[in-house]
Amino acid sequence: MKTVAVVGTQWGDEGKGKIVDLLAADADVVVRFQGGNNAAHTLVVDGRKFILRLVPAGALHPGKTCVIGNGTVVDPFALIEEIDHLRANGFLHGENSLRLSYDAHMVMPYHRAIDRGREARLGRNAIGTTGFGIGPAYEDKVARSGLRFADLVDFRSFTARLERNLAEKNAYLKSVLKTKPIPAADLVQSMKTVRKRLIPYLADTASFVYAAYQAGKRILFEGAHGTMLDIDYGTYPYVTSSNCLAAAAHAGSGLPPGKLDAVLGISKAYTTRVGGGPFPTEIKTAVGKRLREEGDEFGSATGRPRRIGWFDAVLARHALRLNGVWGLALTKLDVLTGIDPLKICIAYERGGQRYDEMPPGRLGLDKVRPLYEELPGWHQSLQGARTMADLPPQARRYLERITELTGVSLAMVGTGAAREATIMISNPFR
Ligand code: IMP
Repeated sequence: MKTVAVVGTQWGDEGKGKIVDLLAADADVVVRFQGGNNAAHTLVVDGRKFILRLVPAGALHPGKTCVIGNGTVVDPFALIEEIDHLRANGFLHGENSLRLSYDAHMVMPYHRAIDRGREARLGRNAIGTTGFGIGPAYEDKVARSGLRFADLVDFRSFTARLERNLAEKNAYLKSVLKTKPIPAADLVQSMKTVRKRLIPYLADTASFVYAAYQAGKRILFEGAHGTMLDIDYGTYPYVTSSNCLAAAAHAGSGLPPGKLDAVLGISKAYTTRVGGGPFPTEIKTAVGKRLREEGDEFGSATGRPRRIGWFDAVLARHALRLNGVWGLALTKLDVLTGIDPLKICIAYERGGQRYDEMPPGRLGLDKVRPLYEELPGWHQSLQGARTMADLPPQARRYLERITELTGVSLAMVGTGAAREATIMISNPFR
């Protein structure tokens, strides 16, 4: 297969970065199509840890082209910082190493200030956003007042639009959110640097992606966040502000419908979420704390401790169907070592009614009772496991049960943080 999308099937942080990095070895082009630096993909390469927020994970393989597509929202200052860090470590050097869409919208400092100001104002009802201004930037895009990278080309008209936006945003920041306004002169000045640094990367990325497709190149579409954070199909309003489904790969990159060969869904062997909102299988006992520590479950974007839960097959079926998933990569199986017994949620119950599928509109998801099945755990380390036969029988049974409950075959199983710590069952590019 030539065109493959990798998407999260839970609430983000499924370990997509590692899988994208693995698959990127076989890809020519790697494309981000939604979200912004609210995503954070952690990669461990040769013992060195990298956190990529905007640049696709293909950046850690020489000779690939990384594309930041039109569906993303990009904080230009964060992008420059990331480019500099990658370049200082020997990556992103080739001429074609990075292409940034003219049509992508910029996340400006006032978006961040609004995001944070609103969350503070919401108090206990806060969404728990990353505070990086993602929602306010997408709002401006839809309101047709956003600033795109294309606007940087004519800096005079860009400045006029920026100042107009800023006057409105500052009034809102001061009088509604009661926070400090953003000084116009400083922002205009810093945008001059942004212009100089980022214009060389600008491209008509939709044409670039299509040309790569026509030339028979292998293209990897790197989803960010996860299905349960999707603006339409997630746990609204506790979601992010973009569509995180594989379907968004088309609108967010310019790849025409029907040209995507396979979707690889990524799920952890258990579940996590950061921020507020319903979480049916959340573990409130010491087991949760243990998994958090074992799995290093602290947000890569914000450092916040992640909430921990059991694997949820109802949620998985919802996500796998919406994404038309071809295969499932299950990550962090090693973290479950020593937890005995293990639980898998097979259905929900509420008011005497059983739900094998997601309740319509995800209604009452904060009130459902998960119905669990218990499976025996294992105690042997999974270190060095490279085939299914290397796994203890209890681990194989756990995986088999997930396959039965989801109806999707396993394509990969993660047994550790490093690239090599992966059982590759089927690689969509081979
Ligand atoms: P925002 O995307 O910063 O607006 O945050 C909205 C919600 O999505 C919050 O609950 C965040 O914690 C969550 N979120 C956004 N991006 C990610 C991600 O990449 N991983 C996990 N949670 C995320």
